[in-house]
Formats: sequence, C-alpha cells, structure tokens
Amino acid sequence: CGIVGYIGQNDTKDVLLNGLEKLEYRGYDSAGIAVLNDEGINLFKVKGRIAALRERVDNSVHATMGIGHTRWATHGVPSEDNAHPHRSTSGRFTLVHNGVIENFQEIKKEYLQDVNFVSETDTEVIVQLVEKLFAETGSTIEAFRKAMELLKGSYAIGLIDNEDEDTLYVSKNKSPLLVGLGDGFNVVASDAMATLKVTNQYVEIHDKEIVLVKRDGVELQKLDGTVVERSPYTAHIDASDIEKGTYPHFMLKEIDEQPFVMRRIIKEYQTEDNKLKLDADVRQAMKACDRIYIIAAGTSYHAGLVGKEFIEKLANIPVEVHIASEFSYNMPLLSENPLFVFISQSGETADSRAVLVRIKELGHPALTITNVPGSTLSREADYTLNLYAGPEIAVASTKAYTAQIAVLAILAVDTAQAKELELDFDPMQELAIVANAMEVLTDQKEAIEELVRENLGTTRNAFFIGRSTDYHVCQEGSLKLKEISYIQAEGFAGGELKHGTIALIEEGTPVIAIATQENVNLSIRGNVQEVAARGANTMVFSMKGLEQDTDAFVIPHVHELLTPLASVVPMQLLAYYAALHRDCDVDKPRNLAKSVTVE
Ligand code: G6P
Repeated sequence: CGIVGYIGQNDTKDVLLNGLEKLEYRGYDSAGIAVLNDEGINLFKVKGRIAALRERVDNSVHATMGIGHTRWATHGVPSEDNAHPHRSTSGRFTLVHNGVIENFQEIKKEYLQDVNFVSETDTEVIVQLVEKLFAETGSTIEAFRKAMELLKGSYAIGLIDNEDEDTLYVSKNKSPLLVGLGDGFNVVASDAMATLKVTNQYVEIHDKEIVLVKRDGVELQKLDGTVVERSPYTAHIDASDIEKGTYPHFMLKEIDEQPFVMRRIIKEYQTEDNKLKLDADVRQAMKACDRIYIIAAGTSYHAGLVGKEFIEKLANIPVEVHIASEFSYNMPLLSENPLFVFISQSGETADSRAVLVRIKELGHPALTITNVPGSTLSREADYTLNLYAGPEIAVASTKAYTAQIAVLAILAVDTAQAKELELDFDPMQELAIVANAMEVLTDQKEAIEELVRENLGTTRNAFFIGRSTDYHVCQEGSLKLKEISYIQAEGFAGGELKHGTIALIEEGTPVIAIATQENVNLSIRGNVQEVAARGANTMVFSMKGLEQDTDAFVIPHVHELLTPLASVVPMQLLAYYAALHRDCDVDKPRNLAKSVTVE
C-alpha cells in the first residue's frame, strides 16, 4: 500500500493523485483521497486504479491539504467501503493507514463496543479510536498519541482533523513513511518517488514517532512528547528514471536496462587502477564471520541462492539462504560468529525487516544489499551495498535480480582477496562480458516472442528444469512466468523430477530446460528425454559451446559462475511475451504488490 499527504498553499489534488500514481506499484486494489477546505472534508474513493480515482474526483473542489492512499488488501476485500481514507462516526477525523494492526479486535472490544463500523478494515478501528480518545481528552494530539500507544503491529498513518486546517498528524511503526520538505508546503509519502516532482529534501521518521506536519515546518516528537531534531537528506533519484519513455511497459524497459546496470555496477565498485572498491568495514565483517545467513523474499531470495554459490566457492565461507518469513518463526541453530546478509530490492520488505530486528536484538552484525539507499533495511543494518539498478517500477523484478547477483559476485571475490585465497576469476572483466551477452539477448525479442506464440499460447501450466546453478534460474524463471502471465509454472531440479513431479507431464506440456553447466549438461539432457518420452513439449535453452541441434535457443557464452545473469534474460522475456499474449497487465499483475510492507 502507499500513502501520500500534502499541506501547503496550492490545490492539493494533483500532488495527491500524481503521488498515488507513482505509488501504484505498491498496491492497486482500490484508492482514495480526502481533502479539507472551509466546507469540510471531501472524500473520493474507488475500487480499482488511480485512473478511475482521477475520474471520480470533483475538479471544482479546491483545498490546500489532503491525504491519499492506494491499497493492497489485507483485512477485507477490495471495495469502495474498504478503501481508504476512513472517517470516524462524527466525521471529524479522517485517516489513511498502511500496515496491519494486530490487536484491532481487542481494541474494538475494549474501547469501541458502541461504534457502528462501515468497513471490515483494521484501519477504521484506528480512526474510531482517535475519536473516542478525543472525546475523553479534548485534545487531538493527546488522542492521537494515546491511540498510537495502544496500537500493536505495523502502521504508517496520516490523520486529518476537520477543525484544524493547519496540521497533518503523522506516525509510523515498522511501515515506511517519510516527510518531504518544501517552500511553504510539506508532504508525506511512503516512498520518496511519490513526491519527487515537488521536492527532493526528506526527513526520516523513526518507529513510534509522531510528526506534526504544517505549512511552514514539521515537528518530530517521541510518543512521550519529547521533541526530536533530525536533519533532512537529499533523495538522489532522477525523476526521468521513473517514466516509461517510449516503452510500452516498465518491465520491458527494465529488462533492456540490464546491460547498463552491469556497467554501472562495474564502475561503482572499481577504483581507478582497476581494483575492487568496497567498504573496508564490509570486508572486515565478511572476513570475521564463520557463516553467512542470507535472508530475503521472492526474487531476492532466488538471487541469494546464486550468491551462496559465489561465496562458498570463491570465499570459502559456508552460507545458508533463508526465506525471511520462515526464518522469523523457525530460527535455525546459529554459528558462533554469524553475519546476516539481507537482500532486498526495496529495502522495505516487512518479512525481512522482522528478521533484522530479531537478530539485532541478539547482537549479530548485518549487511543489507539493496536498490534503495536510505530504506529501512539499509538504515537499520550495520552496512549497506547498493545495487545501482535505478528505480524498478514493474512489479516483476528483473534488473534488481541481475544487479543483486553481480554485487554478490563482487562481494565474494573481494572477500576471497581479503582472505588471500587463490583466484582465477576477474569479476569486472567477466561482468563486462555478461553486459555484452545481455545486449545480444535483449536484441532477440522476436525469437522469444515466436517461441511463446508457438509453445505457451494457450497452455495452463509449464515446467522449468535445470541442475545446479541452472536450477536456481528455473525457480526465478517460473516465478516470472506465473506472476505476470498466470500460467501455473514451477521450477524443478532436473534430477528430482522423476521422484514425483513427472506425474504432471502430459501430451504437450511445455517443459523449459536450462543447460549452461558443462558438468551437468548430459544429465539435464537425460531429464529432457525423460519428459519428452512422456509427451512433453520440450524447449532447451543452452549455453554456446554446450548446444545441440534441437535446442530452442542458444545463450552467448559467459563465465560458468555468472551464467544466471545471461540465462535469466530469455526467461524474463518469455514471461513478458506470455503475459502480453494473454492480455495481462504486465506491470501490475493481479493480487501482487511490489513492496510488501506487511508481514
Ligand atoms: C514482492 C515483490 C517481488 C519481490 C519481493 C521481495 O513480493 O512482488 O517481486 O521479489 O517482494 O522484495 P524485495 O524488495 O525485498 O526484494
């Protein structure tokens, strides 16, 4: 979900709607804005996209403060009633919220028995609670503070009091929220990208702080009322990076950007005399640990699986890769000197953050690898490595995945050098070759589109098989396909297929095999024969040098360790064209959100 708020001199509708459009990738089930003027609150809500909200908004309404929200449903179906902003019964208070209130049932029972709720959301409980506490205290700030004290769970909140046209009340816990500073106006947003058009100056809000946002300034307070001083920082995002340009979809633009991202990573992580350039503290932490725990979700988890191989093979440190949401509740035995590595494109994934909070309590060091410097995971870890991939807008992650793998390779080599291990692998030279290979691959869109047309046109399901490193790319390739084209797809280890999954192979079932590793080339081809014999429609994507006449596609040769960076590109394109041919919303697939800030 995403929040945006504005208080200033000019009409707020455009700032709110433009901001929500930029946040739409975080959730797009429903949306709404509330603006306050002399006549009171004007509320506009729709089920669906921001474009529909734009049509619903009455352009004749003029107001200089307001809040907006785009929703990814957690409690209650997507509907106009459940869309934010929510109002208290008297109508005096209006509120937007991201996150999940864990004790909303308890609060309802204890404080709000006599209230008639109009929505099924946990959010309405907050606004009704503020109203209830206001009735007791007669002060909005007191009521807001007390309400925040009672809430358990995650939240980013913006509140308007009808009787006060000069203050936006804001608070957060675990969910991201920033204050943006302007001249005669101020804004709040879940993500700096939302308000980049009006300011690049931001102030962080820490958990359980309250901010009083006024036209001429902002005041940060702790829950007990103590004033907090914090300097603003400049958000270094180029506003043109978040536009599609001539591309039909962000996903295609981001796939095509991958060669540039590789070259930028080479530049950022290299000194002028061609040595690796990494923070000395990161190097020290890598050297000092006896085991690495990689924590991530979704595509970042898949990048972690590849990273494990680099770190184990090159730097000789054992690595475990864990799904963040599993690690939180089922922690493995830890080694004596663990180092935690969080991989997260957004740096905001709540599941990963929950682990970070936990391991910090235990006193362990943490490194975050992220595309968003200044994000929560980056701020709260001891060290950060940036991905330099530029903003990634399409929900399906592409360039962040390849950037993560490239940075993990550099990290592994840097550690190996620090440990004075013998290495016959120059990561920068090999990444430069990868960048060229990626260019060749992104030039072959027509070939991939044809493969899709011929083989994935009407299929209900598809399987991806590979061994060793290729298996990890199969997991990522199948995730791409299922998340945007809704074809049921799974990635399997080639050798494991015969132990169950092969039962699903029928006449014509598409099976995509990746074959980039010499040592398993023969065995994966054996697995391809096994499924072909049972009627599968097989398509082999092989690396130059390992190809056979019947292969569907040949990937240019890159170093054996870095093959995922090349082999994933045709997988991304397969998913893209499959989604396109099925008329799916490529950049905003159903039910998904890019940045999942709830656990
Ligand atoms: C969401 C997105 C995925 C992403 C995952 C982890 O589920 O839809 O594309 O891989 O979150 O996000 P992160 O920002 O932590 O890499």
